[in-house]
Parts: sequence; structure tokens; C-alpha cells
Amino acid sequence: MKVKVSRKAHFNAAHRLYRKDWDDDKNTQVFGKCNNPNFHGHNYELIVSVTGEIDPETGFVMDMKVLKDLIEEKVENALDHKNLNIEVPEFKDMNPTAENISIVIYNKLRPHINKDHELEVVLYETPRNFVTYTG
Ligand code: NI
Repeated sequence: MKVKVSRKAHFNAAHRLYRKDWDDDKNTQVFGKCNNPNFHGHNYELIVSVTGEIDPETGFVMDMKVLKDLIEEKVENALDHKNLNIEVPEFKDMNPTAENISIVIYNKLRPHINKDHELEVVLYETPRNFVTYTG
């Protein structure tokens, strides 16, 4: 019997979406306001879910304190109040779209989650726009 447990987290970060190999017109046409050369911020909301069997000893799928600390250490410390393009190595040559950020977050957490458990990352870039990555 599998149960999904979830933890919400939050971080603020700045980004710019553009391609160096495209001219200004094309970048503006595709990325709109997100191509602002002076960057802009988002209040990202994150939901990390872990699905697995309940440990009969504890009654937990995963200790939520452990998950909370993991998100703080691996995700918030790496991304919160950062300029994603400039300060986060993963985005040196990759656009920091919500899609790509969700994959980076997943990859940061996956090695620290029990291999028998499924991991799901849901990332809200705005209250209405969100992406889901499950590996
Ligand atoms: Ni944006």
C-alpha cells in the first residue's frame, strides 16, 4: 500500500530567459518579459512529494523533518535569493525556465531519497503556472 507524502517550500530567485545565438527581436518574441536584460524575480512555490510503502515501525513513508531539512539544504540554499543565470552553475548554459528548474531540483534531491521511493517535483513559477517532473 503506497502513500504519497508532500512538503511545500518556497524560494525567491531572479532569472532571464534568452538565447545568445538569437537576436533581440527573436528573444523578445519567444520569451517576452522574461527576456528583460536586467533580470526579474519570481516567488517560486515548490511541492516535493515522496511515494512509497509505509514503514511499519514508524508509520511514516518518510520522516517529514528529514525531507524538510533536505529541501532546505539542497534546494533553498542553492536557489533562494540567487540570480539563477549567474549564480547557479546548472544554468550557465541552460535557460532557467520552470521546466529546467524542476529537473535541477529533482536531480539535487534524488540521490538523497530512498531508492524504493518515487520522487515528484511540482514547481509554481506564478500562482497559475506550474510544472511537474517525476524523473
Ligand atoms: Ni520569468
